[in-house]
Amino acid sequence: MTPDSFATFAALVRARSGMVLTPDKDYMLEGRLGPLLRREGLPGLDALAQRLRAAAPGAEALAREIAEALTINESSFFRDGKPFDHLRRLLPQLRAARPAGQRLRLWSAACSTGQEAYSIAMLLREQGLEGEILGTDLSREVLERAREGVFTQFEVQRGLPVQMLVRYFRQEGGKWRILPELRAMARFEEANLLEPQRGLGLFDVIFCRNVLIYFDPPTKEHVLALLARHLAPDGVLFLGGAETVLGLSSPWVPMAGERGAFVLSPQEAALAF
Ligand SMILES: C[S@@+](CC[C@H](N)C(=O)[O-])C[C@H]1O[C@@H](n2cnc3c(N)ncnc32)[C@H](O)[C@@H]1O
Repeated sequence: MTPDSFATFAALVRARSGMVLTPDKDYMLEGRLGPLLRREGLPGLDALAQRLRAAAPGAEALAREIAEALTINESSFFRDGKPFDHLRRLLPQLRAARPAGQRLRLWSAACSTGQEAYSIAMLLREQGLEGEILGTDLSREVLERAREGVFTQFEVQRGLPVQMLVRYFRQEGGKWRILPELRAMARFEEANLLEPQRGLGLFDVIFCRNVLIYFDPPTKEHVLALLARHLAPDGVLFLGGAETVLGLSSPWVPMAGERGAFVLSPQEAALAF
């Protein structure tokens, strides 16, 4: 692939998802875009880049498909453990601070195939709490999988305690399906973190993990500012283990004594009242 073609793909991915593709990732392009090349009958990535640049009919759908194919969708149940231990402690406090009858609202932003949203559902269920979970992602393909709620043996072996597997999933043709009552606690919708979201309302907890890491600092700041519009003043934002707000200009401050958890700065929280 020529440097020009690589630059075409990198610009497309950055504009659509925010992800920064570095030249050492060119091997990934070959692997991920192979099926699309075959389907379109194109000889290689240069021809695909040329088709994009020509803005031929259908280029918009193609561009979208390429951006989706190049996202990194790695996820697992109870990923990194600690944030979920924290959430387990946090849920009763949030519940106590809300009027009776008001359901807790939790957002798994960049939810991938749904393991994060369903981990949250299991914690709510363990505590006998009612909650509404929203999972959003850019990629339609992962959202379809999340909605289906069916996971392979390999996926359920990563991070999911066996008691929870037995309690909340049933086996189906060599795979594992989440129980309908947990499935019903979550809905999954397409949303791009780079864009303001209309009609989402406020959440008590936002998980936005292992996605900012792929963005450059201005994009991280942009996304962090947008997320702040959707957190209740006493709510908590969880970022991934390698992600932080430190060194960025944002409305968030680290939560004392809790790694990976952030709250709105006092000024920001005051604005929300
Ligand atoms: C590595 S996965 C993280 C999944 C989950 N949050 C976790 O930590 O296990 C990153 C997800 O972010 C999504 N993503 C990337 N850029 C996005 C954007 N601009 N808006 C929404 N989702 C995005 C990808 O499609 C992918 O599913």
